[in-house]
Amino acid sequence: MTISYKQLGLVNTKNLFAKAIAGGYAIPAYNFNNMEQLQAIIAACVETNSPVILQVSSGARKYANQTLLRYMAQGAVEYAKELNQGAGIPIALHLDHGDTFELCKDCVDSGFSSVMIDGSHHSYEENIALTKKVVEYAHARDVTVEGELGVLAGIEDDVVADKSTYTKPEEVEDFVKRTNVDSLAISIGTSHGANKFTPAQCTRNAEGVLVPPPLRFDILEEVEKRLPGFPIVLHGASSVPMDQVKAINANGGALKDAVGIPEEQLRRAAKSAVCKINIDSDGRLAMTAAVRETFAKKPAEFDPRKYLGPARDALKELYKHKNQSVLGSAGHA
Ligand code: G3H
Ligand code: 13P
Ligand code: ZN
Repeated sequence: MTISYKQLGLVNTKNLFAKAIAGGYAIPAYNFNNMEQLQAIIAACVETNSPVILQVSSGARKYANQTLLRYMAQGAVEYAKELNQGAGIPIALHLDHGDTFELCKDCVDSGFSSVMIDGSHHSYEENIALTKKVVEYAHARDVTVEGELGVLAGIEDDVVADKSTYTKPEEVEDFVKRTNVDSLAISIGTSHGANKFTPAQCTRNAEGVLVPPPLRFDILEEVEKRLPGFPIVLHGASSVPMDQVKAINANGGALKDAVGIPEEQLRRAAKSAVCKINIDSDGRLAMTAAVRETFAKKPAEFDPRKYLGPARDALKELYKHKNQSVLGSAGHA
């Protein structure tokens, strides 16, 4: 049985991106795998009056079960209405890093309103062919599609890239024209996970904290010049706050040389053609810090609600902060 996202009360990304570009902000794209993450995302976005893209990776589908995740997204629409006096907020359900046509088709058929086909590890021509095939299937069902050009260093689902390959602005125009994709993830120096740069790639400030090299805004500007108003996506956009890393390590954790993208650089990107910013690792850090703190303070605790509850609260606060002070999406639902 196939189901349209419209039956679930979801929206695709077309209008969200048009408004974000006109308004100089970015839509948050937060990953979820379980109930507490979903509750935190929805509560944070309702409280800040922000639209949101709920992201599901293929790892999340395996972990939580794809059918359950779809019903959870449908439940999230109702939950947002309940929290927001019946009005709700615009919610898109998006496949993160789809790697095959079949996976994208399955998501389109089961109620996703947006899919990413990540052909960035293929050759340029293979990436175009795969992306075009997904776009044709999705657009016939009013589902929007994100492509990717350039390779981010780090782990993208099961694919590990040691080095990033920056997006070539001269390829972007051709890629978008030939695939008819709705948005494009580009590589300008971000990467996935909590160790985005090696210490050798960074400098150290007076306190000895690692300072990463700046994002390649020159590439972003060149892309924007060639395709004015076209929606650009930033993956790997966690900032890896040092207070969270310290809290984790102070309570038994072992995170070494963690470093992320400074928030002011993301704020700058959000004011430009970047209209979707993906954040997952910062949420993982916030939850882990809270769980470790609870166990350190209350070693006898064994009710999951007593450690997942504070983790959920910490996650909600983090996402409210992102919407208000980094992405600028607060107030735009
Ligand atoms: O881009 C990767 C996302 O953070 C999803 O991660 O594949 O471990 O669910 P995952
Ligand atoms: P982070 O690992 O920086 O949170 O990136 C998440 C992401 O890009 C999901 O697609
Ligand atoms: Zn990603």
